[in-house]
Amino acid sequence: MERQKFDAVLQKKVKEIEEIIGSFLPREEGWQRTVLQAMNYSVLAGGKRLRPMLMLETYRLCGGTGKEIEPFLAAIEMIHTYSLVHDDLPAMDNDEYRRGRETTWKVYGEAMGILAGDGLLNYAFETALKAFEAVDATDAEAMGRIVRALSVLGHNAGIYGMIGGQTVDIEAQTQESPMTEVQLHFIHEHKTGALIAASMKIGAILAGASAEQVRALECCAENIGMAFQIQDDILDVVGDSSELGKPVGSDAQNSKQTYVTLYGLEDAKMLVESLSEEAVEKYLRSIDGDSEFLEELIYTLVHRRK
Ligand code: IPE
Ligand code: IPE
Ligand code: MG
Ligand code: MG
Ligand code: MG
Repeated sequence: MERQKFDAVLQKKVKEIEEIIGSFLPREEGWQRTVLQAMNYSVLAGGKRLRPMLMLETYRLCGGTGKEIEPFLAAIEMIHTYSLVHDDLPAMDNDEYRRGRETTWKVYGEAMGILAGDGLLNYAFETALKAFEAVDATDAEAMGRIVRALSVLGHNAGIYGMIGGQTVDIEAQTQESPMTEVQLHFIHEHKTGALIAASMKIGAILAGASAEQVRALECCAENIGMAFQIQDDILDVVGDSSELGKPVGSDAQNSKQTYVTLYGLEDAKMLVESLSEEAVEKYLRSIDGDSEFLEELIYTLVHRRK
């Protein structure tokens, strides 16, 4: 696909996803309206919408055509956004700029930042449960697929997934000994890889893919997740803050050890390329179907500037 055509298709798909996400956001009313405003402020700030995009594309690649995917698209973006809202808090990375605007805690205060994150996490599950309304209640297989998808969402967002990775990331900032390769791999695989893996896995499960296909797509996503976080580390050093919509130099300021500090910029870049290539050639191509857009999407991530 030509670059221009890809960009146009991507834009159209982002718009489609944003409309779906928007349709599930809470109305800003009632005594608790401040937390609802803070939640919507952070979700509506934009962002690449990569996780719902990967979920929807995987769902379609595996032959999915239903509506039960929609609440999950919104849910994964709510969980991802909550992880960013909390990641930016003073007690964590202490950042004041995100998605091109002031961070949620900076605008609404720390307490409301914490509550908005909690609100998004909880509302994500309340939203994902709406998937049951989109299938025939007598269709046991469809109901079962939604239960499996919910379980992946909970597992990968939680202590054995994203939260696990964030825990080790935070502790590593103050550890005396140098970071090991195994430790850094654990951090990236969990803090970032887990939600990306959940996205593709849920897309495949809901579409009714075989166990083998689900596994191949999960491996594909694990590679993407690792490459994505290494590129994020690279951009924290060489990126442009106005393009990124978040600060550069945050990792150095927080004494974070990353793939860049461990291997240097050039090797880190090579790793992003080889992981992405493996994601496409070894795993994505093992799935029958039209994966042209997904393939291009994965390759654009290698050279992304934001
Ligand atoms: C930022 O994720 C946090 C990481 C896991 C690197 P994204 O780069 O996907 O952030 P948005 O959603 O586009 O803002
Ligand atoms: C965060 O990694 C991953 C999350 C689970 C939020 P970073 O701390 O590097 O993400 P950015 O650079 O702030 O987006
Ligand atoms: Mg962080
Ligand atoms: Mg951060
Ligand atoms: Mg970062």
